[in-house]
Amino acid sequence: MSDAVVEALNGTPRAGDIAAAALPLPPAAVVGQPLSSVATPALVLDLDAFDENLERMAAAAAKHGVAVRPHAKAHKSVAIARAQLAAGAVGICCQKLSEAYPFARAGVANIHISNEFVGDDKVAMAVALAGHVTLSVCVDDVRQVAALGKAAGRAGVRIAVLPEVDVGQGRCGVATADALSGLVDAIDHYDALHFGGIQAYHGSAQHFAAWAERRDAARRAADQAAAYVTHLEARGVRSPVVTGGGTGTCEFDLASGVYTEIQPGSYVFLDQHYGSLEWRDEWRFRHGLFLAATVMSAARPGMIVCDAGLKSMAVDSGQPRFWSAQREGTPTYRGASDEHGVLDLASPAADGAAWLGEMLLLVPGHCDPTVNLHDQYVAVRHGRVEALWPIDARGMSR
Ligand SMILES: Cc1ncc(COP(=O)(O)O)c(C=O)c1O
Repeated sequence: MSDAVVEALNGTPRAGDIAAAALPLPPAAVVGQPLSSVATPALVLDLDAFDENLERMAAAAAKHGVAVRPHAKAHKSVAIARAQLAAGAVGICCQKLSEAYPFARAGVANIHISNEFVGDDKVAMAVALAGHVTLSVCVDDVRQVAALGKAAGRAGVRIAVLPEVDVGQGRCGVATADALSGLVDAIDHYDALHFGGIQAYHGSAQHFAAWAERRDAARRAADQAAAYVTHLEARGVRSPVVTGGGTGTCEFDLASGVYTEIQPGSYVFLDQHYGSLEWRDEWRFRHGLFLAATVMSAARPGMIVCDAGLKSMAVDSGQPRFWSAQREGTPTYRGASDEHGVLDLASPAADGAAWLGEMLLLVPGHCDPTVNLHDQYVAVRHGRVEALWPIDARGMSR
């Protein structure tokens, strides 16, 4: 590689470069500013809805004596994790090891990696994390246990290991009691590891639209988890924790008598997909996450075009829902391309000219991958920016 290429890759300033101070990027939002003048696209957190969602989950869990360990994969934000801990959470879940780093650095003391991992690099990250926080991890293969046990022993750290059991998702997790026993024995073999309980998470059950379908799938998952616990008890092994459950099934998981801990993530935001499910009134969380977009073209009849497309939000679980605007009317978000979002007006002949420059609030279809596209939350109360919260673990997917 030539010196010039190496310099360019290192970002070494070169003659003719413009210093950032000479061409500063204006801030997207400042504290105290009205929401209506925030630069778009912006990820907006409605703090009243957020607070209510936190309290609702904390109160329901307290009623059942079950711990809440919210999933940080949904929000990736230290500020939000701190709010969850202040509301009584026992710790957080992360899905990836690198995702846990910003939380560990910020003093979140108890982190569960609710996922399997393999490879020396990942094992080294787990061991490093365990040097700073109380760490638990998932496994579904004795080779994962062996690699972790050896590395943790060398480093002098202790890690709680929770075998994952498959309770209907058909993805990760062992599917037989014998395989579970094999994992428990393997964990027992290493002084640096201890059996922390089991993880029994049924992901697809979260998303069934019909309430009764979610209830039945959650019951089947809890029954399977209970059978695994009983199997271990018969061998003299107590499961201190049975963890699982997300936003869609926590109502049932809390009442199951099986789960000691739930792992909901999306409840703080309630994205459009979750909002479209059937809920009992007391379990309907509020939409707290919005994408603020601006209508930047209205050149054609019957439609308007906003500045928020695929680079601002994920549409894998459906298109965003138009929530509100300064103007009357309810356009429908039809489709996204990279930087554009097309919304249909009520009639194909409608003139959209008056929409030009309007700020729209959209409820994203799927919160987790939408959040991962942004640097910060613009946290708003009563139409004014109250705080800017960085999305600390953005892009941390190792
Ligand atoms: C293991 C695990 N636990 C909890 C959750 C949280 O789910 P939700 O955001 O649906 O509440 C997820 C989400 O995918 C998950 O994979």
